[in-house]
Amino acid sequence: MSHSISSPISANRRRFLMGAAALTTGAAGFRFPTPAIAQGAPLKVGFMLPYSGTFAKLGKFIDDGFRLYVERQGGSLGGRRIEFVQVDDESKPESATDNMNRLVGRERVDLVVGTVHSGVAMAMVKVARDTNTPLIIPNAGANEATGPMCAPHIFRTSFSNWQVCQPMGKVMFDEGRRRVATITWRYAAGSQMIDAFKEGFTRAGGTIVEDLALPFPEVEFQALITRIATLRPDAVFAFFAGGGAVKFVKDYAAAGLNRTIPLYGAGFLTDGTLQAQGADANGVRTTLHYADNLDNPANRVFLEAFKAKTGQDGDIYAVQGWDAAALLAEGLKATGGDWSARARATSAMRSARIDSPRGPLSFNRAGNPVQNVYLREVRNGRNEVISVAGQAVDDPARGCRVQA
Ligand code: BEZ
Repeated sequence: MSHSISSPISANRRRFLMGAAALTTGAAGFRFPTPAIAQGAPLKVGFMLPYSGTFAKLGKFIDDGFRLYVERQGGSLGGRRIEFVQVDDESKPESATDNMNRLVGRERVDLVVGTVHSGVAMAMVKVARDTNTPLIIPNAGANEATGPMCAPHIFRTSFSNWQVCQPMGKVMFDEGRRRVATITWRYAAGSQMIDAFKEGFTRAGGTIVEDLALPFPEVEFQALITRIATLRPDAVFAFFAGGGAVKFVKDYAAAGLNRTIPLYGAGFLTDGTLQAQGADANGVRTTLHYADNLDNPANRVFLEAFKAKTGQDGDIYAVQGWDAAALLAEGLKATGGDWSARARATSAMRSARIDSPRGPLSFNRAGNPVQNVYLREVRNGRNEVISVAGQAVDDPARGCRVQA
């Protein structure tokens, strides 16, 4: 497990504590009445994210987005300084419980922020429930996390797998697609996203001609692309992300299918990937809770700040990291930075209304975002909004027993 404590924040913290000591203890031993939290230790945030493998860029952008938000608040949220510990989860579910136990047990973090992969997230949710550790999920869409496994201290600043794909079913039917093939990786997020799309599409009257899948994180797509050419559906609906999405879109175009069988998908197919996909992604239509050209003040501020810090264009993963920090700020503001008043902090987080780069962001009783889902099309290297596929889409939170 690779892990490190972010040194700039630690150095700041040392300077802060020395300054505080100099201020509070005079020659005669007089102490100024400083707030309790200002004298306390920084809040320790554990990042459990993929920093290697096919989802490495996704993890890095979540990390960058979160840190950027904190930096813009001067290194503190709600008056409490923030310190980071990070672990590379490698998108490996088999290591997830150990990694999470290490953050919670050995590192004694105050809360965990992670992760990208739905299978890893499920193991994290279990440890978070068993140890009563607050968890903010900044990407993984596993429906269970805000369904049967929901808890008052578990939040998500991303989406549920159901939420971003179900609206696409009606969109594709309304665009005249009647016979559709699906393709994805065979793991929790893949099957849940395909099921959600099929729920919307078959309810609208469409027919699924075949479901195609390969193991995560394989990228040998050729045999499946040949199968799509043989089936000749009206369109294809796909879920891939990160490095796998880059290769799938390029292979689909190399086979010439982008000219005859329109490609649709969950927005991860073209988010954070367009530079590498180039013209091969043009025309791909996806649904997601973000688009590059959303014209709102929060998005303009976010995109400019992210570019200035990293030299790169912000994407949905960076937005989800940024919003995870914004959500934590709501909890700390409600308690003056006191994380031991946990119930008050998490209840303020549940009722938070965040002015996100994605548009208005609030949370349902299960801690899942309520948010717009946009239909986007790739045009000239950007995911541009075509329409709002679903306004303030709420996940059904099936199986969640937390009351509103
Ligand atoms: C997931 O495993 O939940 C996931 C991974 C990448 C992008 C979107 C979802």
